This record gives sequence, C-alpha cells and structure tokens, in this order.
Amino acid sequence: MDLKSMRQQTQILSKIATNDGHGENSAYFDGWKAYDNNPFHPKHNPQGVIQMGLAENQLCFDLIKNWVLNNPKASICTPQGAEEFKDIAIYQDYHGLPEFRTAVARFMEKVRGDTVKFDPDRIVMSGGATGAHEILAFCLVDPGEAFLVPTPYYPGFDRDLRWRTGVQLYPVVCESSNDFKVTRTALESAYKKAQEDNIRVKGLLINNPSNPLGTVLDRDTLHDIVRFVNDKNIHLVCDEIYAATVFSQPEFISIAQIIQEVQCNPDRIHIVYSLSKDLGFPGFRVGIIYSYNDAVVSCARKMSSFGLVSTQTQHLIAAMLSDKEFVENFILESSERLRKRHESFTRGLAQVGIETLKSNGGLFVWMNLRNLLKEPTFAAELELWKMIINEMKLNVSPGCSFHCQEAGWFRVCFANMDDETMRVALMRIRTSVLQWKGMEAAAAASAKKQKQCRRNLKVSLSFRRGLEDCMISSPHSPMNSPLVQATN
Ligand SMILES: Cc1ncc(COP(=O)(O)O)c(C=O)c1O
Repeated sequence: MDLKSMRQQTQILSKIATNDGHGENSAYFDGWKAYDNNPFHPKHNPQGVIQMGLAENQLCFDLIKNWVLNNPKASICTPQGAEEFKDIAIYQDYHGLPEFRTAVARFMEKVRGDTVKFDPDRIVMSGGATGAHEILAFCLVDPGEAFLVPTPYYPGFDRDLRWRTGVQLYPVVCESSNDFKVTRTALESAYKKAQEDNIRVKGLLINNPSNPLGTVLDRDTLHDIVRFVNDKNIHLVCDEIYAATVFSQPEFISIAQIIQEVQCNPDRIHIVYSLSKDLGFPGFRVGIIYSYNDAVVSCARKMSSFGLVSTQTQHLIAAMLSDKEFVENFILESSERLRKRHESFTRGLAQVGIETLKSNGGLFVWMNLRNLLKEPTFAAELELWKMIINEMKLNVSPGCSFHCQEAGWFRVCFANMDDETMRVALMRIRTSVLQWKGMEAAAAASAKKQKQCRRNLKVSLSFRRGLEDCMISSPHSPMNSPLVQATN
C-alpha cells in the first residue's frame, strides 16, 4: 500500500485496523513470504525455498490417517457417522461437548505422565493457543499494563497478547552464557525496570518447553518462578503447547505438578494448551485455557464465544483422544520420531561446524551462527539471514524476531518436512558453509601473501611488481564472505 492510501485508511479505519501490532512486517513473517513466492518442490521446483520457519509437526500423519480409516464413526461425514450429523451440527453452548472436555483433560494428563489431574469443568476452549493467550490477556490485564516474558520468545506473542488488548510485553533478558536460563535475578531486574518505567506488571508469561529454544524448564527454575509470582502477587501464564514433543531427558515438568510442591496461590496460575503441536493439528484450531481461578474460567468461557472450536472438530477429537491405546502409542511414537529427526539434523549441522543449543523438545533447534556475522549486531544478523534465504534458499528465522538480545542466533524447524526435503536442506547448508569456508581460507592465504609482499617491499623496491600482483583481488573476492568478516 502506498503512503497516500495508507493515510486515507488511517482516517477511515480504527487504530487497531491501521496499526502494525499484528507484527506482520517482521523478518519472521518476511521469511514466510519468501517461501510463499518460491516454494520448494522436489520435482516441480527443486531450487525453491525450503520452509524451515514453520513449527509444524508432520511426522506422524500416517498414524492419524490409520486411525481415521479405522474409525469412520468418528466423522459425521461418513455413512457410519452421518446418523449423528444433526445433533452435532446444531448450536451447542460455549462449554463445549462434555466428551470433548473430558477427553482433552485426560490427554493433558497422559502427556504429563499421569502425574496430575485436570478437571474437565475447568477446560475452556479457544481458537488455538493464539486465541487462548488473547482471552487470558483480556481476563487478567488492562491496557497499558504488562506481562513479563523471558527472551527469546515466540514472535506470535506480540500479536496474541498485545495487538487487540493494548497489553504490553516486557522482556526478561536471558543470556546464552547460561543457556538462556530464566533466573530469579533476571526476573527481578525486569520487574524493577518495568516499575522504573511506570509500567504495572500484572503477570509473567512462560513457555515450557520453549519456542524457540527447544529446552525445558527444570524443577528448581519452576519453583523459583512460582515463588517470584507469589512474592509479587502477579499471575503466571504457562504456555505448555509443546509438552508432548519432549523426546529425551530431562523430562518435561508441568506447572500443574509444581503447584502441588510449592506453597502458592493457585488462583494466579493459568495454563495454555493446544493440539497444534503435540498432535500436529494446527488447522483444527483447538486451543485450551486451563485456569485454577473460578472467575477466570467463567469469564474466559464467555469470551470463548468469539473463537469456539467447531462441534464437528470436537466430536472427532473426543473420539480420537478417548482411544487410550491410540493415544499411548501416538505419544511414544511421535516423540521417538522427533528424537530421530532432531538427532540426524543436529548431527548434519555439527558436521559442518554449526553449533546448536542443547535441546530435548520442540520442533526446532536454536542455531548459533555468531561466528558467521560480519560484526556482532542485529543488522549483520539480518544480512546473514538474507543470504541464507537468497543463497541457501532456506527460510529460517533470525533471533531478533524472537527478541533475542544477542545477535547471531537462528531458529530452524525440522519436523514440517519429509526425510528427503530434510536431506536437501542439510546438503544446501553443507554446500554453502563449505563454500564460505573455502572463501575464508582463500582470503587468509591472500592476506598472508599480501603481508609477505609488504615485508619484501621494505627489503627491496624491486619487488614492486610482485606486490601489485598480490593486490589484485579476484572477481570472486572472498572479502564479502561473512566467515571472512567474522575473523576480524
Ligand atoms: C509458544 C507458542 N504458543 C502459541 C502458538 C500458537 O499456537 P496455535 O496454533 O495453537 O494457535 C505457537 C505457535 O507456533 C507457539 O509456538
């Protein structure tokens, strides 16, 4: 849109419609556009961009497909299930189908190793975790007030919690020096800073397992977090939508377990869940708010009218998640497949010297490309990111879009593609990195030669001609390589 029509829109539309709170103009979404404009296809577009910026879990669709084929009654659009069409298609109240709430509560327990109980009457549904976050923001915080959020964090939080609510997100700065741990010191410092800025902090939002880190919060950290929110008398929202993606030790510990261990006011604790990642159904838009606070449950339920899960989906999910054998097998198989994919992907990266943060969950790895930056700045990070998109043709997401406070980190998703596409992606990474390394070596050799020439020049001016030879740079000058620059 040009400037003039933008100005016109600002005059006739609301502030929400014309502000950029949606965050669509960030690098995170730009990468998606690059993929949309030139999507990879093994046969039809083998040089296209591979989508590694989308946290989707596509590794178990064969299991789901088998279940669907074996359970035709679960769908109201099959001869076996059509009998129930009328009962499902008519208006339902916003509590959700009882069998759906019960099945989701049991699934949430299973995913947490049956260490906790969830009450189906506290299950409030929403349009994905996206809707759940916004509803909680509306319920807990007034415009201008803030949630603290440890960095780096999922870019969608800016849209989900802030855009339409007017709520602010205030960063809790976590650092690579301790693997981005959420420490009490970091929490206190963010809280103090918000107070100095005259911002009222109403809550802390954590994401466990973390997107983009793929790590889980340990028990001591969770205890500290609960004590912190208790001391400050603020809310704690725990986004646990990657709970079942954890594929190795340390185990995932839900906040639901922690509140049984630490003395706290459960009225302040709220869990966000969804079936988008653990089951791999982001298209179904099944989001869950689980609050221990009766007033929040009641208000969230009323607000959920704006983003209910369709009864057709509830009906199918209720049947699927009530199948205990299927659920148990799915959870085990899904995490095993994620483990294997994570292992082969990180091994491939390590072979070309790319480090990743040690992780054991999520659908992505947090890749450290600091050494490839020209300089330790976010401008250099974006420059490298553009090279990755334009040269490697991989859409990965730069750390700055996750509010990471240190330049050089990138999130790369590994579960939204088949093995062959993953192989192509790794091959592209290997080729580019080796090429860059070759350029770096050539640059080092050339620099050495130049130094030698200069030394010789001092000895004898008759070496002038040789020096000139040395100074002629190749048309493929390696000096633009980020690897070369990083050695400065
Ligand atoms: C941490 C986190 N929360 C929420 C969401 C949104 O999930 P949903 O698709 O269920 O709305 C995502 C999606 O990537 C996410 O990573």
